Parts: sequence; C-alpha cells; structure tokens
Amino acid sequence: MAEETKDRIQTPANEAIDRREFFVKMGLGSLGLAAGGTAAFAYQFLSPNVLYEPSPVVNMGKPESYPLDSVTLDVDARIFVIHSQEGFFGLNAVCTHLGCLTAWKPETQTIACPCHGSKFTREGLKKEGPAPKPLPWLRMWVSDEGELMVDRGNEIRAMQFVRV
Ligand code: FES
Repeated sequence: MAEETKDRIQTPANEAIDRREFFVKMGLGSLGLAAGGTAAFAYQFLSPNVLYEPSPVVNMGKPESYPLDSVTLDVDARIFVIHSQEGFFGLNAVCTHLGCLTAWKPETQTIACPCHGSKFTREGLKKEGPAPKPLPWLRMWVSDEGELMVDRGNEIRAMQFVRV
C-alpha cells in the first residue's frame, strides 16, 4: 500500500517518487495511449476498404487439350470450355436460378443443375426447369502463348466462337 508524505509517494517496493515525477509519468503515459489510438485509427481510415479478389481472367491451357465435341468443366473456375465444330467457347457453369454449379451429362447431351433440375443445351440455352436465363457466354481469346483465356467477368453475346 502506498504511503503519501508531503511531496513524496512511498510505493510498496520502497521506491520513492515525488508527486511531480508521478504526474509527469502519468501524463506522458496518457499521451502515449492517445497517440497510439490516433495512429491506429488514422491507419484504418487511410487504408483502402476494399475486398481483394483473384483476377477474373483464367488461363484454360492449350486448345489441343480439348478434343473436338468435348465439354470440359473447370470446377475451380466454374467455367465450361466447349470445343464444337464451329470453334471454342466458354460458358459460365453457375446456374442462373440460385447459383448452383451445373454439370455436363454426356448421356443426354445436357448441362444439368443438381439443385432444382434446370437443364441447358451445350450452348447454354435453357431446356427446362426454373432457371430464368440461359447460361452466359464468357469472353474467350487465345493469348500470345497460344493458350485459351476466359474472362469470367465479361459476358458476351452467344454464338461468338473462337477459332484456333
Ligand atoms: S440453382 Fe439451378 S435449378 Fe435451382
């Protein structure tokens, strides 16, 4: 327990500090805390409040890896790469109903949604089910290195094929 004399405060460890020194230390400590809080607030205020997402452009590899008349689903990118007689194209594989990932059913030549039964043609047109819209076509091009690139964030008109 601290004992206070006229100008000195006696701490339990018997270290005497005078009143002026005590209040100077308290004041400096309070200023330090206030400065730290202000710096933390300023850093939070000045740093951009954005959500960093991966690029929407996906490298789908060499065209030769897609046989003619194939439909290939990239589960991670959520894209179908389709190699048809007319050329290559990319479809968004996310169902336009409630966002489930669709799958290619070769036995029925249909892209089917497992959630509520929507079905689409290979070109993304709706055949049946509750989906309100066809599957969107995505911009596709061939890079300088000869690889198929797809921009998931860029929908295009249907029936624009990439010929390699
Ligand atoms: S999410 Fe595809 S049919 Fe409902």
